Amino acid sequence: MNKINHCLYPVAGLGTRFLPITKSLPKELLPIIDKPLLQYAVEEAHLAGIMQMNMVVSDNKKAIQHYFSDPNPHAVDKLKKLTHLQQLMDDCDFHFVKQKEMRGLGDAILCGNEQIKKEEGAFAVILPDDLCAINTLKKMVELYQQHQCCIIAVEQVPASLVNRYGIVEVATKAIDERVYKVFNMVEKPPINEAKSDLAIIGRYILTTDIFDFIKKTKSGANQEIQITDALKMKAQRGEVIAYHLPNKRYDCGTPSGYVKAIKDYAAQLSN
Ligand code: UTP
Repeated sequence: MNKINHCLYPVAGLGTRFLPITKSLPKELLPIIDKPLLQYAVEEAHLAGIMQMNMVVSDNKKAIQHYFSDPNPHAVDKLKKLTHLQQLMDDCDFHFVKQKEMRGLGDAILCGNEQIKKEEGAFAVILPDDLCAINTLKKMVELYQQHQCCIIAVEQVPASLVNRYGIVEVATKAIDERVYKVFNMVEKPPINEAKSDLAIIGRYILTTDIFDFIKKTKSGANQEIQITDALKMKAQRGEVIAYHLPNKRYDCGTPSGYVKAIKDYAAQLSN
């Protein structure tokens, strides 16, 4: 019951901040040097011991399916660079489920209910445009094994940006190193109403009862079904903890964050 087998990747979004390239190329396949964001995300889950990779896609994301299901054996023989991808494809099962309408992140996560059954206990969620340290999910899986509840990754953001994120209200005293009980959370609060500057980042461990909570959730901010609203109900029952990320995270959903990630990863290559 403690083991986490599935990771869900909600990647059906339109990626409007990266138009025009996202007209034909999914945002999640944008490269950091030579590797797409989504491969970094799959490697992170694989390192956490997860082998069932579930992608929630839309019609214009066929390239994602192609990337993870067409091994091109000829190229694998020739190019050492493809062997790691081949290893991921050998070790993991990739499932693709379609989100019919863009009804928000909560709705996209609900699409995972087709593949992830209640008996699993819990599953991971990665938003690949948040590029995190490779061991982030591994640490969150360990926290789940210890605390047996929903875990969300959080990061301190400048006060001027709180209205772009889900913001959490946490206990002042940590229950473990960088780990806090969450009391409440609000999606994209106006700056003067935000209870903290701790923003939810795209890494979650969700207990499978979250599907029932999402079903009860009405559309919220931006007329979308927000995962934050479903998680808020769990937080009010004392069933959510926040993990304050110790490492830098890159918001590759924005051109400026994406460029920062490329610069830093390129600097590591040349060192
Ligand atoms: P974003 O808010 O970053 O939206 O979604 P987006 O479409 O990717 O990018 P912009 O804002 O238009 O530039 C956060 C995550 O939730 C997924 C997205 O694919 C992204 O990984 N998502 C969002 C869905 O899968 N379905 C939705 O209906 C909404």
